[in-house]
Amino acid sequence: MRQKPTKIEPAEGKLGVLLVGLGAVSTTFVAGVALGRRHGRRPFGSLTQMGTIRLGKRTDNRSPLIKEFVPLADPNDLVFGAWDCFADDGYTAAAKAGVLHNEDLALAREDLAALRPWPAVFSRDYVKRLDGTHVKKGKNKLELAEQLMEDIRRFQQETGVARTVMIWCASTEVFLRPGPAHESLAALEKAMAANDPSVAPSMIYAYAALRCGVPFANGAPNLTVDIPAMWELARERELPICGKDFKTGQTLMKTILAPGLKARMLGLHGWFSSNILGNRDGEVLDDPESFKTKEESKLSVLDSILQPQLYGELYGDFHHKVRINYYPPRGDNKESWDNLDIFGWLGYPMQIKINFLCRDSILAAPIVLDLALFLDLARRSHLHGIQEWLSFYFKSPMVPPKLYAEHDLFIQLIKLKNTLRWLRGEELITHLGNEYYD
Ligand SMILES: NC(=O)c1ccc[n+]([C@@H]2O[C@H](COP(=O)([O-])OP(=O)(O)OC[C@H]3O[C@@H](n4cnc5c(N)ncnc54)[C@H](O)[C@@H]3O)[C@@H](O)[C@H]2O)c1
Repeated sequence: MRQKPTKIEPAEGKLGVLLVGLGAVSTTFVAGVALGRRHGRRPFGSLTQMGTIRLGKRTDNRSPLIKEFVPLADPNDLVFGAWDCFADDGYTAAAKAGVLHNEDLALAREDLAALRPWPAVFSRDYVKRLDGTHVKKGKNKLELAEQLMEDIRRFQQETGVARTVMIWCASTEVFLRPGPAHESLAALEKAMAANDPSVAPSMIYAYAALRCGVPFANGAPNLTVDIPAMWELARERELPICGKDFKTGQTLMKTILAPGLKARMLGLHGWFSSNILGNRDGEVLDDPESFKTKEESKLSVLDSILQPQLYGELYGDFHHKVRINYYPPRGDNKESWDNLDIFGWLGYPMQIKINFLCRDSILAAPIVLDLALFLDLARRSHLHGIQEWLSFYFKSPMVPPKLYAEHDLFIQLIKLKNTLRWLRGEELITHLGNEYYD
C-alpha cells in the first residue's frame, strides 16, 4: 500500500498551465478563468472551486470547501501557454470555436489574444482531417521533443512560474494499439530516434513534459501516457499522470444513469447513443480512424459499470451502439439522443429516452481547471504515476494493467474525496454509520 505523504508543499507562486491544442475547450477554459478573475464570474461545474468535503461524523458539522481543505493553487495565479498547429491567437481561435457569446468574448479578449500558440508537433498521419500549417520541423521525434522542452523552459523562465502542468486538449488522434515501442522508456526513445510511426505526437508532448518535470493529463482518448514507457518515465521522475478523455456530455450521463439501473437490478436489452455536433472536434471525429479511438473510449464505460460477467441475466447480452455525426450547423452545441431498452420484474420491457442539448466545452472547461489544480496538488504531495483518484474526470480512466477501471461516477467521487482526506490525515468515510446507533 502507498504510504500517506508526510508533507504537502505549499501552493506558493504562479502555476503554469500548458495547453496542447488551443481550440474550443482550451479557449473556453482560459476565457472562464479570465472572466472569473476580472469580472467575478462564478466557476460553475468546478469541484475544486465549489465543492465541499465532509470531515468526521455527520454530527460534527464539518464540511469545508475543498479548496480550503487542501492547499490548491488559486485560479488567479494561473499563467497559460499553448501549442497549436494553427497560428490563430486565443481570441481568434475562441471566436472560430463559437462557444462563447460575443459579450463574453469581448470581456475576455485581452487574456485570450495574449495567448499565441507555439508551433505544434503535428502530423496528418494522426489527425487526418486537419491540415495544420503551424508546425515544428525536426529530423526525428526525439529532436521534436527537444524543441518542445525548449518551449517549456522558455515559458518557465519568461513567466517566472513556480510550477507547471500540461494538459492535452488537442484533437483526437487515430487509433493506436500498445506495441513494442511502448513497452519501456528505452524502447520508446529508440523508436522516437527512428521516427517509428507508433509514436504519436501526443506521446512526444507527454515525453517532453515528463522529461522537464511537468505532470501530464490527457483529455482525449489517445494512448499517450497510457503505456508502460510513460509509466516508467513518470515513476523515474516522480511525477503524476492521468487520463484519458474528459468525461462530459453523453458519457457523463451514462455514468450517472447506469449505476442507478444496476443498483436496482434492472436489466438492459440495449443502449443506442447518437450525437450531432459541428465543431472542429466533430470534424476530426468524422474520420473513421479518429472515431475508432473515441468509440473505444465511449463503449468501455457500460461494460465496466454493468459487469456482465457477474450479472449475465441482466447485462450479458445488451446491444451498445455509439454514433457521432458531424453536422456543421450545430457548432459546439452538441445534441445527443439516447434510447435505453430496459426490463424489470417478470421481464417487462420499458424505455428511457434522453435528449441532452449540451455544450461540450462548457462542460469540459471546469474539468481542465480541476485537473490543473489537482495534478499540481498531487505533485506537491509527492504522489506519482497514475492518479486513479482523478478517474472522476475521465471516460477511460487509466489504471495499472492488473486492475479494471472504475467508471461509476459516484464511486469515483468517493475515491477522490477519500484521497483528499487521506492526504490531510483525516478519517476516511466508509458510510457504515454504526456509531450513530450505539
Ligand atoms: N469538449 C468536450 O466535452 C470533450 C470531451 C472529451 C474529450 N474532448 C477532447 O478534447 C480535445 C479538444 O476538444 P475541442 O472541442 O477543444 O477540439 P478543437 O478541435 O476545438 O481543438 C483542438 C485543437 O487542437 C489542435 N491540434 C490538433 N493536433 C494538434 C497537435 N498535435 N498539437 C497541437 N495542437 C493540435 C487543433 O488545431 C485544434 O485547434 C479533443 O480531442 C476532444 O475529443 C473534448
